[in-house]
Amino acid sequence: MRLVLLGAPGCGKGTQGQLLAEQYRIPEISTGDLLRKAVAAGTPLGKAAKAVMDAGKLVSDEIVMGVIRERMQQPDTRQGFILDGFPRNLAQAEQLDELFEELGRPIDLAVLIEVEVDSILQRLLGRRTCVSCGASYNMFYAPPRMDDSCDECGGRLKRRSDDNEETIGNRLRIYETQTLPVVERYREQGRLRVIQGSGEIQDVFRALSKAVEEVRATLGSRDRSAAIRRAVARKQNTARGGSAAKAGGSGKAAKKAAAAPAAGKKKAAKKKVQAKKKVQAKKKTAGKKAAVSRKKAVAGKKVAKKKITKKKVSAKKVAKKKTVTKRKATARKAPVKKKAASKKKAAKKAARKKAAKKKPARKR
Ligand code: AP5
Repeated sequence: MRLVLLGAPGCGKGTQGQLLAEQYRIPEISTGDLLRKAVAAGTPLGKAAKAVMDAGKLVSDEIVMGVIRERMQQPDTRQGFILDGFPRNLAQAEQLDELFEELGRPIDLAVLIEVEVDSILQRLLGRRTCVSCGASYNMFYAPPRMDDSCDECGGRLKRRSDDNEETIGNRLRIYETQTLPVVERYREQGRLRVIQGSGEIQDVFRALSKAVEEVRATLGSRDRSAAIRRAVARKQNTARGGSAAKAGGSGKAAKKAAAAPAAGKKKAAKKKVQAKKKVQAKKKTAGKKAAVSRKKAVAGKKVAKKKITKKKVSAKKVAKKKTVTKRKATARKAPVKKKAASKKKAAKKAARKKAAKKKPARKR
């Protein structure tokens, strides 16, 4: 439960906050108390805050937000908390929302405790606190047995430095001008409950507890349905997780099944990476192949060119050869013709000789 208690100075925020803290076992965080501790310790923050507090004004937002941020880091705030006296102006309310958004812990409820101004004056002017154990008294409503000492531990009772008429007047003005707009903000957001704080402390506490319980019930059903949604999502994830989820049962198998969605996600991520690598490798080899084939093609072309030139050369050679052989052939054929011609000539000569021999015989 994350709760903000709002109301005028002396309305009972501190008193009721402590009772709630005991009931729900969550811390009550009062910026007033934190600042007063810093003042008592004499820290730089305390020194800066003291004069402002004594005047009944608001300490700077920067200082207060720093105090709250630091306190919210404590592990006891994880289960819930009660904020008393914070936020006190709109700037603080907005920064508080931002901070809780960061932490993922939004405010569940803001409660305004309403008390008339007359009661407030009596409560604040009559308030006494034990310096040793912190027990609270009121000189009008709940006085100690002895005026200036604690019933519990005998410690000295002290009046707060800002519980004087002048400062109380300032505190009330600051409340009306700066804190009431914060009340309106929570009202507009639908996160505000108002209770009457003028009765007995226990009656006021009953009214406050009732309001808190009502909101807790609605938050509970909201949480339950959110838990159901988460469970359904987990089941779906487990189903997607595959065989590990099917193992189910007990021991290691159950652990594996519980881890299945996460493992499934991891596997999917691994597969993606592997697939990417494969694609890159393929691209690389494809690139290499392309380069090789380009080289081959170039080489092939060269070879083809060579072949063509060779062919041309051989064709030329063949052509040459042919002319040469033709010449040779004609050269070879020429003497045969010549021989035949000379043979014919010789035959003619012989015929002429024969004829010459025959001619004288006829003269006889
Ligand atoms: P802070 O300490 O927060 O003072 P406050 O808001 O003025 O409130 P009180 O603590 O005085 O009253 P309460 O409402 O808690 O009532 P309580 O239960 O004590 O702030 C002090 C200063 O610090 C500020 O002025 C400012 O300078 C600075 N500061 C703090 N927060 C800041 C912030 N966020 N930003 C900037 N500056 C900041 O009761 C009062 C008395 O009434 C007690 O004696 C009690 O016993 C009695 N009582 C309570 N309920 C009843 C009842 N039902 N019947 C009879 N008596 C009752």
